[in-house]
Amino acid sequence: MDPLSNDVKISIQDVTKIFYGKQKEEVVALKNLSLNVRDGEFLVIVGASGCGKTTLLNLVAGFDAPTSGQILLDEKPVTGITPECGMIFQQYALFPWKTVQENVEFGMKMKRMPHRERKERAARFIDIVSLNGFEKSYPHHLSGGMKQRVSIARSLANDPKVMLLDEPFAALDAMTRQVLQEQLVRIYEKHRKTIIFITHSIDEALLLSSRIMVMTARPGRIAQEIVNDLPHPRNADVQLSTRYMELKRTIWDSVQAEVMKSMEIEAD
Ligand SMILES: Nc1ncnc2c1ncn2[C@@H]1O[C@H](COP(=O)(O)OP(=O)(O)O)[C@@H](O)[C@H]1O
Ligand SMILES: [Mg+2]
Repeated sequence: MDPLSNDVKISIQDVTKIFYGKQKEEVVALKNLSLNVRDGEFLVIVGASGCGKTTLLNLVAGFDAPTSGQILLDEKPVTGITPECGMIFQQYALFPWKTVQENVEFGMKMKRMPHRERKERAARFIDIVSLNGFEKSYPHHLSGGMKQRVSIARSLANDPKVMLLDEPFAALDAMTRQVLQEQLVRIYEKHRKTIIFITHSIDEALLLSSRIMVMTARPGRIAQEIVNDLPHPRNADVQLSTRYMELKRTIWDSVQAEVMKSMEIEAD
């Protein structure tokens, strides 16, 4: 694969996010978090549950605003929902009353892309996620893995500059998950989107990422950063290498320390 560019795509600058709980108490979800994501980078964030991963992604997508600090996308502050960002959630968020084809076409239709171009693009991305033959199916006729492939095709068809994925494969069985991981690696190797991907799985992080961030227990900051130098093209075989084991150990130690801390916070 080509070397990564040095252009900063997303710059998260000293971001703090405070929520107010049921008794109006302050919940500091993120504290003074700074992070740059380079153009074409595949950044994976791992961290204990409740450490602020979803909060961070929501801020990057412009669904919510930081309490202090700022986020820049292409050097411009994110001030609201950014159409340049494609978001993929754990739950598939498809329109149940629309077919696969119509779901994939949705964003392009909103952008008023001409009919013919829209059909062609939809067909191409349905093919990329291997859903040919299911164009006219409705979401309730599809398995979880297929629904998530529709979400991925829909997002790619919109040609977002950035893809934000929040534990997209967490609800899937292990085998479907592996197939989708490999598909996503292929898509990344070919299209080189800038991606931020959240997961609980260290193996998933190692298979997909160019860089891994371990987040601290709440309030979320960066505990450790690991450059993933495993070679491309990647498939499940990469898991047999010595380097893989070394990296896995490093990440595991860091994650384990943070999970222990988060359990202490819960016990308070
Ligand atoms: N809208 C909200 N109101 C109050 N607290 C929230 C809200 N959203 C998230 N939180 C709290 O912020 C912390 C981080 O949440 P979240 O970003 O969802 O964590 P993660 O995705 O890492 O599991 C949690 O303690 C959560 O309860
Ligand atoms: Mg979350």
